Formats: sequence, structure tokens, C-alpha cells
Amino acid sequence: MKSSILAMALTCALVMVMVPHVFAKRYIVGGNKGWTSNVNYTVWASDKHFYLGDWLFFVYDRNQMDVLEVNKTNYENCNTDHPMANWTTGAGRDVVPLNVTRHRYFVSGKGFCFGGMKLSVRIEKPPPPPKAAPVKSDAPRMSYRSHFVLPLVFAIGAVWDSFLRVMG
Ligand SMILES: *[C@@H]1O[C@H](CO)[C@@H](O)[C@H](O)[C@H]1NC(C)=O
Ligand SMILES: *[C@@H]1O[C@H](CO)[C@@H](O)[C@H](O)[C@H]1NC(C)=O
Ligand SMILES: *[C@@H]1O[C@H](CO)[C@@H](O)[C@H](O)[C@H]1NC(C)=O
Ligand SMILES: *[C@@H]1O[C@H](CO)[C@@H](O)[C@H](O)[C@H]1NC(C)=O
Repeated sequence: MKSSILAMALTCALVMVMVPHVFAKRYIVGGNKGWTSNVNYTVWASDKHFYLGDWLFFVYDRNQMDVLEVNKTNYENCNTDHPMANWTTGAGRDVVPLNVTRHRYFVSGKGFCFGGMKLSVRIEKPPPPPKAAPVKSDAPRMSYRSHFVLPLVFAIGAVWDSFLRVMG
């Protein structure tokens, strides 16, 4: 009895761990090459969709490069005199949350932008729910992600409950 409850709780916990990876994605910029020179980031980004809630993960040589966010003009000109944001933490591993739906522009300073170390991404709203999902036409349109928030809250409650029962 106890072991089956525990198994159920563990399954729920596993599902909870997996859900965020399915719906919010963390992109390693440049894939296995990372953030470096000699990568065309326009090509890298061209087959990807960046959605609100995703992250960019810049992995690079902290002794050489950095991660600066600039506007379109300064992206085109590689002007890093007045970056809009400096995402460089010093570890060579910087995470940028894509929390606004617009174009954003990232470059490396220290001369690397001129060699092509620049990335432009368009952040989109998450896709609408799939057709199979029942959506009432008069209900406010929910995003695909928000469908999973409520079940998740119940799942957390259920897991917590089972653990209390197993422990007690
Ligand atoms: C970008 O910022 C510069 C100042 O650093 C400004 O002169 C320019 O007009 C801005 N461009 C855009 C598209 O906002
Ligand atoms: C960005 O921030 C890092 C860490 O604080 C700092 O070392 C670096 O000088 C900053 N770069 C620019 C261009 O402001
Ligand atoms: C986006 O995230 C950054 C860094 O965490 C934060 O400074 C900024 O206020 C956020 N913007 C919005 C619109 O949530
Ligand atoms: C990246 O590739 C695109 C398409 O092939 C090209 O137009 C662009 O000039 C390249 N960018 C760099 C920095 O080489």
C-alpha cells in the first residue's frame, strides 16, 4: 500500500520535473559550438522559434568574450559603447530570460561583433492550444502554457498529500 502511494508520488514528481522542459525551452546559443567566433548566428537562429518564457544560454570563453544586449542600430554597427544590458556575469555561462515579445539583439564586445558574433532573435507569443484541446469559444483564450498551470497545482497538492500520508 505504502509503496504504491510512493510510486505514484514519484511519478507525479517526475512529470512535474519534465513539464517545464517541454513548454519552456532553454537554447544553448550556437548549439555545441556555443558563443564564439566563426559561427553564423543568423543561420543558427533561422530554424528556431523563440517563445515568451524561453531562455538563451550563452556558453563561452569568459577570458575573451562577453554578452551585451544592444538595440538594432548598434547591433548592425557593432557599437557596444552603450549596451542596453550587460548579461556578462564573469562565469562564461550567462542566462537571458526571453520575457518580452519583440526583437532582441545580442553581441559580444571586445571586437568580436565585427567578426560576426551577433545574434538577433524575434520572441513570439507561445503557440495557441492544439485543435484537439477543448476550448470554449466564449471563454477568454488561454495560452498553451497556462493549460498546465492548474493541473500542476493539483499535482503538487497530490504529491504533498501522499508524502504526508507515507510519512505519517
Ligand atoms: C540605439 O541607441 C542609440 C544610442 O546608443 C541611438 O542613437 C539609436 O537611435 C538607437 N536606435 C534605435 C533603433 O533605437
Ligand atoms: C559587464 O559586466 C561585467 C561583470 O560585472 C563587467 O566585468 C564588464 O566590464 C561589463 N562590460 C561592459 C561592456 O559594461
Ligand atoms: C525580464 O527579465 C529581466 C531580468 O531578469 C528583468 O530585469 C526585467 O524586468 C524583466 N522584464 C519583464 C517585462 O518582465
Ligand atoms: C550569415 O549567413 C547569412 C545567410 O547565408 C548571410 O546573409 C550573412 O551575411 C551571414 N552573416 C555573417 C556574419 O557572416
